[in-house]
Amino acid sequence: MTDAERPLVLLLSGPNLDLLGQREPEIYGTATLADHVDRASAAATRLGLALEHLQSNHEGDLIEAVHGARERAAAIVVNAGALSHTSWSLHDALAAFEGVVVELHLSNPAGREPFRHTSVIAPVADGLVAGFGGLGYELAIEAVRRLLDGGEAAPRPGDKDRARPAETRSETRRQTEQTEES
Ligand code: DQA
Repeated sequence: MTDAERPLVLLLSGPNLDLLGQREPEIYGTATLADHVDRASAAATRLGLALEHLQSNHEGDLIEAVHGARERAAAIVVNAGALSHTSWSLHDALAAFEGVVVELHLSNPAGREPFRHTSVIAPVADGLVAGFGGLGYELAIEAVRRLLDGGEAAPRPGDKDRARPAETRSETRRQTEQTEES
């Protein structure tokens, strides 16, 4: 398989993650964002995936990156930082992305301050990897590989919120056409 044929995973990093390594090391550890991206890239290569990464402190940049991933990337792994708890715009952008979405956090937000207990992007994600530090970057890529291979996805409570995968849409279209023909 050539590099161009490998399914693309877009890894998105939100606000303040550029400060990893210096920022609250007692919570986030001493590894830098570059270390985590290297770990995700190595996992992607091992699993036959291509990886692109973008970090931004600006919500609009992340939203535009999600738009740019439509019909180009097979999956998005997103650690949106504090935007995970507030950004309905990012929620809506991810809802319009047809591929796999994995939400990622270094820490376990459920065990921290109450404002971190709600993720507004969780309803439009296939699942969540949180609390495993840098290992989470590998686990998220492994989850993507398994979901792309099929058979591992659990039903999403937020499914009604989310644009349905392209193949499901075409399957429904095919079934509708068959019904109309008969
Ligand atoms: C974080 C958790 C968020 O609550 C926080 O705002 C971050 C980092 C994590 O990776 O643990 O910036 O997303």
